[in-house]
Amino acid sequence: MELSTKSYIGVGRVPVGIGALLKGWAIAEDFYRRADTLPVVNFRAMTNACPFDCFHCFTDKMKRTLTLDEIKNVIDQLADLNTHTIDFVGEGEPTVDKDFFTIVEYTAKKGIQPVVYTEAATRLRDRNFALRLYDSGASVCPKCDSLYDEEYQNWVVGDRRGRYFRQRNEALELLMELGFNRAEDDGTTRLGFDMVVSKRNIHEVERTLRFCRDNNLWLILVFFLTSGRSAKSDFDRGLMVSEAEKVEMRRIVQSVDADYNHSHQMWNNFATMRCIEFVEIFGDGRVTACPGNDTPIGNVRDEPLRVLRDKLLSRFPYHDKRHFDGNCPYRPRLDGSLSEARDEGSRDTVDQEGQFIPLDALRRSQLRQTQH
Ligand SMILES: C[S@@+](CC[C@H](N)C(=O)[O-])C[C@H]1O[C@@H](n2cnc3c(N)ncnc32)[C@H](O)[C@@H]1O
Ligand code: SF4
Repeated sequence: MELSTKSYIGVGRVPVGIGALLKGWAIAEDFYRRADTLPVVNFRAMTNACPFDCFHCFTDKMKRTLTLDEIKNVIDQLADLNTHTIDFVGEGEPTVDKDFFTIVEYTAKKGIQPVVYTEAATRLRDRNFALRLYDSGASVCPKCDSLYDEEYQNWVVGDRRGRYFRQRNEALELLMELGFNRAEDDGTTRLGFDMVVSKRNIHEVERTLRFCRDNNLWLILVFFLTSGRSAKSDFDRGLMVSEAEKVEMRRIVQSVDADYNHSHQMWNNFATMRCIEFVEIFGDGRVTACPGNDTPIGNVRDEPLRVLRDKLLSRFPYHDKRHFDGNCPYRPRLDGSLSEARDEGSRDTVDQEGQFIPLDALRRSQLRQTQH
């Protein structure tokens, strides 16, 4: 099998055409390790509006209060800090933000790779909309809780009309037709899935991964974050997979990938690749280390991003890219041990079965309030 022309942190050279890496999440090790670069920055500078109501949604649906000019200024600063990629996750559905294209196109113009996380069904069935996104150079990551179980997928997004599954699949077909998943010599694709793994879909991981490998789609397998709804004390933890199930899932991922000549180590989140995220900026300007740590360190309205980055590194030194090993510091390591991230930036603890117990919702909201 043909290998990529470039080599990337964590995976080296990858087979071409199997969706091993998303454009934006494919970063060379020497670029990543440099102290003067930022790899993947999460910028939630998009609307909190969303037509769906996912039971696990990690956003707090906070209104974006940064103006378009302030957003552009942040993007300028990110460009000066040699940012490789901006993940647009939004506080809701990014594609329905009134400034969506202005922000995405401005990002690309500044030499930063945009990646858009989306439910896809609302806007990406529209050919002109999808074509403009294609022309922007952005990568797209639709949610995929299930490709096979219509009832489960519609239940996840709270769609009582029962249309979401079919509409998301329609968008997927259009994105593929437009070439978002075209094979590139550098081993990347511009189309991927974010699959939140639960007790109800973990049995689909193998089939979904094979679909992605066969169609040049990237796949990350994500466990419930300890933020947003999935961190609330009333969240149904019965849907969370056990540590034993995660071990089995990782075994399956390694064995499927071996079939595609893609051998890589395993990490404690995402499974198919290491974590390369650092710096998260909310729609009101607050800055945190990453989606796994929602302790704000300051606000882009008050301080330059360069200063905030340095504050993050001194408060959470385990995020220092020069040493970071790609495992989520807020989850148990693969050998079951806990990482050094045990200060108030880490919100979870682990019970006797290795299952997460998120920091209680009350203390989390207190943490937030002290920053306002
Ligand atoms: C928060 S959404 C926002 C963008 C868009 N509305 C969407 O759903 O794709 C971004 C991604 O995070 C995933 N997600 C939502 N809640 C999560 C949670 N509690 N833990 C892990 N991932 C989650 C979603 O499934 C989605 O793929
Ligand atoms: S996960 Fe996305 S689609 Fe679901 S409620 Fe949250 S923002 Fe909306």
